[in-house]
Formats: sequence, structure tokens, C-alpha cells
Amino acid sequence: MPLQLMMCRYCARSRPEVYTMIARLARAHPTELEVIELECMAACDDVPAVMIDTDYFPRIHATELEHEVLERLRAAASATRE
Ligand code: FES
Repeated sequence: MPLQLMMCRYCARSRPEVYTMIARLARAHPTELEVIELECMAACDDVPAVMIDTDYFPRIHATELEHEVLERLRAAASATRE
């Protein structure tokens, strides 16, 4: 099952560095990462916010987002090898 990254399509686009990072991660990991765009994720006060699986990340920076996603992808890949 791919890692799920959920975001508000409107708020993410208002933060180009975060939106660009999400697009880059999705391109680099097409089968391991599923990006889910919502109309609103009820995080309007925490923009930009994302959910990575069940964890909520308010006011996330692009580099923090990249780190979280790559760490989780590495952990998932390592778990499947065991
Ligand atoms: S409109 Fe983006 S989180 Fe609500």
C-alpha cells in the first residue's frame, strides 16, 4: 500500500515551494506515494498543512515535507525487504 499524502489543493497551490515539492516527490515515487488532493482539509488556519498517512503536519516547510516523506518511504522499503 502506498504512502498517502493528503493536501488541500487550494492551499497547497498558494505555497509554491510546498506544491512543487509534492509534485517532485510524486514524480520520483509514482508507485510508493499516493497524493490525495481535497477541496478543503479543514486546516485553513495551518496553511500549508498535509496529512501523511494518519499524521498531521501544520505549517509545514518544503524541506520538512521532503524529509518526512523520504524517511517514511525508506522505512517502508526496509520493512518489505525484511
Ligand atoms: S481551503 Fe485549504 S484547508 Fe481549507
